[in-house]
Amino acid sequence: MANINKKLVASRFGSKVNSYDIATPVQQQMAQALIEQVSKHFSAGEPGKILELGCGTGRLTRKIMEIFPNARITAVDISSQMAEMTRANCPNVDVILADAESYICDLSERYDLIISSATAQWFRNIEETLGHAYHLLTDRGLLAIATFGEHTFCELRESFDMAYAATGREKINHMVDIYPIHKLHANFPKAEIVQEDIKQYFNDVRTFLKSIHDAGAVNSTDSKRPLNRHVLQEMCRQYSCRFTNADSGKIAATYHICYMYLSSENKGHSR
Ligand SMILES: C[S@@+](CC[C@H](N)C(=O)[O-])C[C@H]1O[C@@H](n2cnc3c(N)ncnc32)[C@H](O)[C@@H]1O
Repeated sequence: MANINKKLVASRFGSKVNSYDIATPVQQQMAQALIEQVSKHFSAGEPGKILELGCGTGRLTRKIMEIFPNARITAVDISSQMAEMTRANCPNVDVILADAESYICDLSERYDLIISSATAQWFRNIEETLGHAYHLLTDRGLLAIATFGEHTFCELRESFDMAYAATGREKINHMVDIYPIHKLHANFPKAEIVQEDIKQYFNDVRTFLKSIHDAGAVNSTDSKRPLNRHVLQEMCRQYSCRFTNADSGKIAATYHICYMYLSSENKGHSR
């Protein structure tokens, strides 16, 4: 179980409600890929009831509305500013301000589609939450999740390791530990799981760090500890030395994306 501090998650994302959409081209790509697969799944008939977990500014919610104009959509977000933004952007959607992990535990209503993009990496108990969501599906239902895999920002992780080794300071983990995808495979053997790496390029390491900050995606764990100035400088140096693209002069950052599709066709048997 991850030691995510949900109050911090809500306030960090809430404070970035105005910069989020511009700062997150990768999350936009994920949402687009997810909705394209979902629309193929429902090509024979639109889902009647849809639940979205972690709607943010409502970017994916709007796509869902466009593709399934007759569906009844409920969208949940833990941040009041994000929930407010989705309410403003998607007037016909029932927007709920709640922690999706506890919200779905109290639900008895069934859904044809439960969808979530770029949010499950913030769940404290991803297996239990997705397992619960799966049990809320109707007989023709689909659980469709896009999340980040453990190789995300591998360059940053490695540069921190090198910086701690070079400065001789006691190592601190500044990054959120991401749930490993092989565990999703093990826990949801009937799910279709697709992975891809997307590389983004930035002018320098500080611009990359700012983009994470502007997305609200900073470390929101209980164990977060201050970053020493010398370690930060050394980390930036290591990063530039190791991960600068020789042609463009830009630094690379990997986003490891994982899509999971689990249909309720096999419900009654194992997931
Ligand atoms: C990276 S944003 C993704 C937003 C949107 N799905 C998108 O694709 O652009 C993650 C969102 O999930 C919300 N979130 C994180 N943990 C959550 C939780 N436990 N319950 C509900 N929302 C949560 C955050 O407040 C934030 O708005």
